[in-house]
Amino acid sequence: MITLNRSAGIPARYANRHGLITGATGTGKSVSLMRLVEQFSRAGVPAFVADVKGDIAALARSCPAVHLDLFGQVGTPIRISFQAMGADLVARALELTDAQAGVVEVAFAYAADRRFRLASIADFRAVLSRIADDAKAVSAHYGHVTVASIGVVQRALMRLESQGGREVFAASAFDVADLLEPSRVSILKADRLMQSPRRYGAFLLWMLTDLYERLPEVGDLARPRLVFFFDEAHLLFQDCPAALLRRIEQTVRLIRSKGVGVYFVSQRPDDVPQVIRDQLAHRLEHDRALPVGTARFATMTADGRPAPMTTIKVDMPECPLGPLEAYELPEVTAPSLRPLPSRPLPSLPIHFLAGLGCIGAMIAAQWFR
Ligand SMILES: Nc1ncnc2c1ncn2[C@@H]1O[C@H](COP(=O)(O)OP(=O)(O)OP(=O)(O)O)[C@@H](O)[C@H]1O
Ligand SMILES: [Mg+2]
Repeated sequence: MITLNRSAGIPARYANRHGLITGATGTGKSVSLMRLVEQFSRAGVPAFVADVKGDIAALARSCPAVHLDLFGQVGTPIRISFQAMGADLVARALELTDAQAGVVEVAFAYAADRRFRLASIADFRAVLSRIADDAKAVSAHYGHVTVASIGVVQRALMRLESQGGREVFAASAFDVADLLEPSRVSILKADRLMQSPRRYGAFLLWMLTDLYERLPEVGDLARPRLVFFFDEAHLLFQDCPAALLRRIEQTVRLIRSKGVGVYFVSQRPDDVPQVIRDQLAHRLEHDRALPVGTARFATMTADGRPAPMTTIKVDMPECPLGPLEAYELPEVTAPSLRPLPSRPLPSLPIHFLAGLGCIGAMIAAQWFR
């Protein structure tokens, strides 16, 4: 049982049936999230959680924590390589038209044939400039490219760079399998990421999708392999095109059978579209009409039926609250610096993101729109 207080909690074996924590500001959502993450960690279940306001990082005081950062300021940086994303997805990320996307396809084929690295923006530029130097021969072999269309892609790369893409696009230096270390709490520093809410939403969806693609199906487990917390979940669904929403819905529905529980945190229940809400078995609804830290709680019974809703007071997590001071960071990040025991996922493709396909493309289109 993943306990919220002495008598109430989520049965561990149903914790992959997903959840929702709601409530107006200051009603106790983050504290409830921290309590849950801490209890998951105690039960050996690793958790991934994005820290938007800097308060969630306090979990590092009571759990084996790893800090992740897209911008490389704290803890382990996360990197995505162009190569791994694939030509289609990169063309979308760069907001190119179909005609312009042809140049990206050619660049990928050209780089693959010559075994050129295509990870960072600098790599991409180098490949484009070689193609420009040799446009006639390249056109004859790979299909028509003009110097003007290469220029369009170069300008798109420049825009991406000015939006922080230089730090993000590099040789893949992060493996989602690292998230699966038992009891580990992976805390993504998301304050800067949040300055661009689309990018925040897109990034978390990319992680979820990547996990989904890489993890094998598992039967019924005594507890989840991972729990994934989406704070500020309304940002995922704002202006979400119908096709992308369908994909998210599908991923959330199917990832359950891979032993991953997804928990959304948002102010109002209807921040999360009904089709997704329907799949969330565990609900914690904070309410201004109730004392802080008190919530209506719905979950499942030990034999897998929906339990009647009750009103409960959530116990405080063991970690002292308050932002993590700089002096606390080296200590708490230390465990992540130890080399992880290698835990290859059986029969999984090694390449990162390959075959990510349509959802990735749509995510990227959202991100860079
Ligand atoms: N379960 C609890 N028991 C006792 N006090 C609590 C509990 N939950 C929250 N509090 C108190 O309320 C404060 C605000 O809680 P919290 O930060 O979780 O709110 P929130 O809903 O996440 O707000 P926001 O939407 O602004 O992020 C906490 O700092 C704590 O002092
Ligand atoms: Mg909060």
